[in-house]
Amino acid sequence: MKLEGQRAFITGAASGLGAEIALLYAANGARVYVSDINEDAAASVAARCCELTPGSVSGPCDVSDSSSVKAAFASLLTELGGIDILVNNAGIIHTDPEYLEANASAMKAQIEESMQGEGIKTHLRSIELLSDEMFDRMMRVHMYGTFYCCREALPLMREQGGGRIINMGSLMGAASLTGAPDYCAAKGAIMAFTRATAREGASYGVRANAIAPGFIETPLLDPVDKTTLDLIAMQTPMQRLGTASEVATSALFLASDDSSFFTGQVLAPNGGIYMSQ
Ligand SMILES: NC(=O)c1ccc[n+]([C@@H]2O[C@H](COP(=O)([O-])OP(=O)(O)OC[C@H]3O[C@@H](n4cnc5c(N)ncnc54)[C@H](O)[C@@H]3O)[C@@H](O)[C@H]2O)c1
Repeated sequence: MKLEGQRAFITGAASGLGAEIALLYAANGARVYVSDINEDAAASVAARCCELTPGSVSGPCDVSDSSSVKAAFASLLTELGGIDILVNNAGIIHTDPEYLEANASAMKAQIEESMQGEGIKTHLRSIELLSDEMFDRMMRVHMYGTFYCCREALPLMREQGGGRIINMGSLMGAASLTGAPDYCAAKGAIMAFTRATAREGASYGVRANAIAPGFIETPLLDPVDKTTLDLIAMQTPMQRLGTASEVATSALFLASDDSSFFTGQVLAPNGGIYMSQ
């Protein structure tokens, strides 16, 4: 019970990593505000949390919209009376089949060309195929969402003498892999913002850290074709993708006193696909 009596607000908690973190926090004694744009799925995660620790609730929150975030925090105060832990987890990847296919086929052609040893003749166009709307949405959900939630949480945490913020970065934020330039930029921005938050919050007891997972089996990866996922597993020293519970344990560590001297840091559960520090 590492989080006994704690109150956590988690974004994008209706699925994948967010849901797994919510359940692990509840299993450790926390009451969780399970927020998501998918209200029904959020409600069912909250119900499962309540079986572990009574008092978790769910509510709608579109992190890309500051008024939705404000409303969700007002609801959090009514329901849980405050916030000890904020997990900025909500996220998306592109799902447009044409965009995905253009990237996947260029990447496959490049692999074949490089194996033939005659240089790359097919070029990726993942930047030039992005529309204003696609780029804007990626930034809004990831970077703006993280900013909006931190802006609401920090004064509350300061008033109560501290708190912990955990931002979901990605392998892509540090080691730009091909085919997702805006996702890489958004995640890199989140990791820089985490360090800025850590510096600013330290004087009033807020610790801010990020998690930068590698490739993890969640519904987020459903649009990615199987060949690409097999290739990723082959390139990973541990020869597989990770599981949501292997990321949730990092989120528990960063939320608990076990990480009491960690701030501005990045934990990277990634099977060794990227070894940075
Ligand atoms: N799965 C991976 O391989 C992987 C790797 C590194 C980082 N991540 C990051 O982890 C986080 C969680 O991803 P996941 O794999 O659990 O994906 P997921 O698709 O299973 O869950 C994402 C959740 O975010 C919600 N969401 C989407 N847009 C939202 C918005 N505007 N406001 C609020 N909620 C919104 C979705 O409804 C969904 O419930 C994301 O930030 C993702 O970028 C995932």
